[in-house]
Amino acid sequence: MAMLFKNISILAGIRSADKPAKPLRGKDLAELPVIKNAFLLTEGDRIAAFGPMTEAPANIPPGQCIDATGRILMPAWCDSHTHLVFAASRENEFIDKIRGLSYAEIAAKGGGILNSAARLNEMPEDKLFNLALQRLDETVKMGTGAIEIKSGYGLTVDGELKMLRVIKRLKQASGLTIKASFLGAHAYPPQFRDNHEGYLQLIEQEILPAIAREGLADFIDVFCEEGFFTQAETERICRAGQAYGLLPKIHANQLHLSGGVQAGVNVGALSVDHLETMDEAAIRCLAASSTIGTLLPTAAFFLRMPYQPARQLIDAGCIIALASDFNPGSSPSANMNLVVSMACIQLKMLPEEAINAATLNGAIAMGIGETHGSITIGKKASLILTRPVPSLAYLPYAFGSNLIERVMVAGEFT
Ligand code: NIG
Ligand code: FE
Repeated sequence: MAMLFKNISILAGIRSADKPAKPLRGKDLAELPVIKNAFLLTEGDRIAAFGPMTEAPANIPPGQCIDATGRILMPAWCDSHTHLVFAASRENEFIDKIRGLSYAEIAAKGGGILNSAARLNEMPEDKLFNLALQRLDETVKMGTGAIEIKSGYGLTVDGELKMLRVIKRLKQASGLTIKASFLGAHAYPPQFRDNHEGYLQLIEQEILPAIAREGLADFIDVFCEEGFFTQAETERICRAGQAYGLLPKIHANQLHLSGGVQAGVNVGALSVDHLETMDEAAIRCLAASSTIGTLLPTAAFFLRMPYQPARQLIDAGCIIALASDFNPGSSPSANMNLVVSMACIQLKMLPEEAINAATLNGAIAMGIGETHGSITIGKKASLILTRPVPSLAYLPYAFGSNLIERVMVAGEFT
């Protein structure tokens, strides 16, 4: 069915239909093309037309028209990094952190990822699916129209496959576009603590072939970090995934200068994510590549880490995306509105830069730039309609306020 948005105060994020989609880097990231006093027409699940109000079609029945006076219409958020499938929240560790323990100390005493893995392996698939679907519904209400979800809380053949099957079921159950990443290399499970080679071989020889047989993943991810996976191990696992057609998107330079950025660039990763800890060499390496640097400001916030050096990265010419890192340990929120606010407030990104990084560049960071992330004829009608607001900059400025009136996902209001 067609739907006409009329009298849109600001229609933001207008792009031509580039194939392949062109990521925004350097100064281009601050360009967010808009039309003021605009219309937009959807047809089925797609954007069919848009332009100035003077050119709006006159033949759409009133029941299919929405008056967007005073409001912004823009592409829905494209959240390219989440761990949305998990068994249980971890607020006990939150308290430990308030009392002074570090993320690494919590991990060392069996908390962190291994805690989540123990809980996940105990939980039946159906229960895990129902919990994840509920979280996904809440996420959509906050304006997310496409999302990447990782495994990595299984760390066993059965646990990893269970997580990826849950993600596959979410793809079928939800109107959202969902991409799946295999993150078996999230941590060494306890039974392989002194036998890293054994776990690497399990991933290469058992888990990856099983994933490929069932077509369960789009990407391969590794937590490249001190005490987790080295640069060499990261490159090895990425290449093993690539042999099965999985493109690398990795966790890099979160807590230390892990070599993760260099590993990602060496293997031609789609993205290297986190980047709290960067030096000149890592910035230059990323800027000279086509790998996207995905910044996760709410993870830095939650762990009280220094924020990602967004200005240096943008000024050096890196391609930047923003994502939520939604997970129970370091970012228990999937709120992309907050991510965008924090990117402006703490990372000193301009509102236009942050919105581009959380829409078009986010879409490209999960391989869906040709169908998502901008107002483009033929792209999915996955849109955010705001409440009446005075300007675009008001969205990140008024942090914590719910400024979303309606969310459309693939042509349907949620
Ligand atoms: O992206 N850093 C590694 N993985 C997650 C956190 C996982 C956890 O603590 O459960 C992240 O921050
Ligand atoms: Fe993460």
